[in-house]
Formats: sequence, C-alpha cells, structure tokens
Amino acid sequence: MSFVVAIDGPAASGKGTIARAVARHFGFAHLDTGLLYRAVGGRLIEEGGPVEPTRAARIARELRAGELEPDALRGDAVARAASQAAAIPQVRQALLEFQRSFARRAGGAVLDGRDIATVVCPDADVKLFVVAADEVRARRRWEELRRRGEDPGYAAVLEDLRARDSRDSGRAVSPLARADDAHLLDTTELSIDAAVARATEIIEQALSRGDER
Ligand code: CDP
Repeated sequence: MSFVVAIDGPAASGKGTIARAVARHFGFAHLDTGLLYRAVGGRLIEEGGPVEPTRAARIARELRAGELEPDALRGDAVARAASQAAAIPQVRQALLEFQRSFARRAGGAVLDGRDIATVVCPDADVKLFVVAADEVRARRRWEELRRRGEDPGYAAVLEDLRARDSRDSGRAVSPLARADDAHLLDTTELSIDAAVARATEIIEQALSRGDER
C-alpha cells in the first residue's frame, strides 16, 4: 500500500511534532524535509562565503541521507541559511526526486515541509496545513532554542521567524502556501496531544474511506 500524508506550515507551527506522532501512530515512515534544506544550509555555513546558486545547488546534489543529523542542524543560523538556499530553484530541483521517491515507498509515508501538498506530492491522500499565531510560534521556537543552549531573546526570535516566513511565502519558486484541498489545523490554542488527535482523526477518516492508491 502507498499512502501519503503531506503536512505543510510555517516555522514552529507544530507540523514536525504532528508529523512524527502520526507516523508513529500509523506505522508510516517520516521525512522532515526541512532537514534537507537545513543540511544544505549547514554545509554552506561550513564552507563559508555568500549563499550563491551554483554552489548551493552543488551541495544539494551531493547531499547524502547520512548527513541529515537533526541535532546539529536545529540552530537558527542554519535555519536562516536553509531558507536562503530554499529560494534557489536549482536547489529545490536537486532535492525533489529524493522526496518523491521517499513518498512512493510501500507502507505509507508522512512528509512535512513547506511545499509538500502543492509541489512534491500534489496527489497526497491527506493534506494538512498547520498554522499558529506568530507570537505562539515564536515562544515555542524560543523554548526549543533555550533547550539547545541558545538564547537570542524572545523579540529576536519573533523577528527572525517573521523574516523567514515572509521569505518562504514570498519566493517565486514553491512558496509556502496552503493547497486548496488541505485541511487547516490551527494549533494556537491546542496542546500537542489535541493537535495530534485532530490530525490522527483526519487521517483515520481518509484511510477508512479507502483513499489509498
Ligand atoms: O523547523 P522549522 O519549521 O523552523 O524549519 P524547517 O522545517 O526545518 O525548514 C527550514 C527552512 O527550509 C524553511 O524556512 C524553508 O525555507 C525551507 N524549507 C522549504 O523551503 N521547503 C520545505 N519543504 C522544507 C523546508
């Protein structure tokens, strides 16, 4: 069986947490596609110099699954470089086939990112667009950074998050956008458990309707 769940949304909306939880619940494989862009961002920082399309695309083409180390890539400098690299069409193109072949695997897959339902898997069986108020997302992100030992302060986190959102939504290629047929899930006032429960319910309904291809 191939069954694809596409989860998109802005930074710290809760999409990653929801994606991990529903993948575990249904026994599906999970790909955090943000990690691909973060890995490119991380390598760009390591190599130094400006984020330049030819170099960024080369790094994206050379990327290996073994380089996707979540812990090393979760910081804010990497997120900024990732978002800059993500606006380069050749970078997105280089990462597309990896994401699509992940989605095709048997047994079901959950992919989370910015353009999964619109570009990577437009035929996904379930599409979720996860949002939350800016201030709530900034607070979540700030807490996550402090747990990592980084503390730029709440105001800086909020500013950074808004800058990244507007770059992600405003870019010409594969911008962050809600697919017409995506369920909207606003987690502003939802606990993690409540958000996961709602997502699980939507997926269960699709599975019981026999939406699998
Ligand atoms: O965890 P957070 O939501 O803060 O970010 P992320 O999902 O790890 O993504 C980091 C950056 O990668 C985003 O700001 C986007 O610019 C980019 N990205 C993208 O363009 N398309 C995706 N499918 C996933 C991430």
